[in-house]
Amino acid sequence: MALFDKHSFIEKNSIVLTVGILVVVAIGGLIEIAPLFYLKNTIEKVEGMRPYTPLELAGRNIYIREGCYVCHSQMIRPLRDEVERYGHYSLAAESMYDHPHQWGSKRTGPDLARLGGKYADSWHMDHMKDPRSVVPESVMPPYAFMIGRPLDFKNIDADMKALKVVGVPYTEDMIANAKEDLISQTDPDSDWEDMVARYEGLAGREGSVTIRAFDGDVKNVTEMDALIAYMQMLGSLVDFDTYEAEDLHNRR
Ligand code: HEC
Repeated sequence: MALFDKHSFIEKNSIVLTVGILVVVAIGGLIEIAPLFYLKNTIEKVEGMRPYTPLELAGRNIYIREGCYVCHSQMIRPLRDEVERYGHYSLAAESMYDHPHQWGSKRTGPDLARLGGKYADSWHMDHMKDPRSVVPESVMPPYAFMIGRPLDFKNIDADMKALKVVGVPYTEDMIANAKEDLISQTDPDSDWEDMVARYEGLAGREGSVTIRAFDGDVKNVTEMDALIAYMQMLGSLVDFDTYEAEDLHNRR
């Protein structure tokens, strides 16, 4: 056919073929990228978002250290089966203080983006010690070594300073009190009021910082305290009973 005869000319001239490919890819790229310029912003401001408390941040560091993201995602896509299984789809704002984000790319285990409050602390203790004791068919490895293991948090303030550089709104007050705040979150008998005020003040909503001995042992600050504090707040900052999606399109 005549049309295909002409195409063979392109196929036989590598320069013409390369230019042709560039033109086609550029059109595709424009179609993908141009609509973004017509959005007012890509991360809407959402009430309830606040930076991690020092204890939660330490827990997040353990999550990264142990490579939990290799088997778990933290990103619920706006698809019906995901929303029915895991809850409200993830908002961009929910990972705005995550450097690096923990969206993950593989689900050997379930998505953890809305894990907070799903189980009791004691369930997490049992599950981390021996996943098969609570989920018989589980293929998750045990992390029993973290139970009772003292948490190393001597650099937690430096960690917060680094996050501040990339845009997390930690205040001087938060950084100066990081270590005391970390300890007081694990001990209901401590003076935790200031620390709660510091973080909930940024959240603009009460009840997002919980104080307790997450591993059931008040005396020692352990890796399990931090990891469970982190797991129990995942996806719980935004109140989806009152949340309404902002209209991001520019209606001029
Ligand atoms: C080799 C893959 C693998 C790794 C690594 C892994 N998990 Fe899992 N995880 C699973 C699987 C599979 C399940 C589902 C069965 C179960 O509940 O144990 C699961 C379940 C869970 C659950 C229960 C979720 C729910 O909604 O029921 C939590 C919490 C969890 N993992 C946390 C972690 C944490 C924290 C780490 C890192 C310290 C981790 N996992 C590392 C595979 C893994």
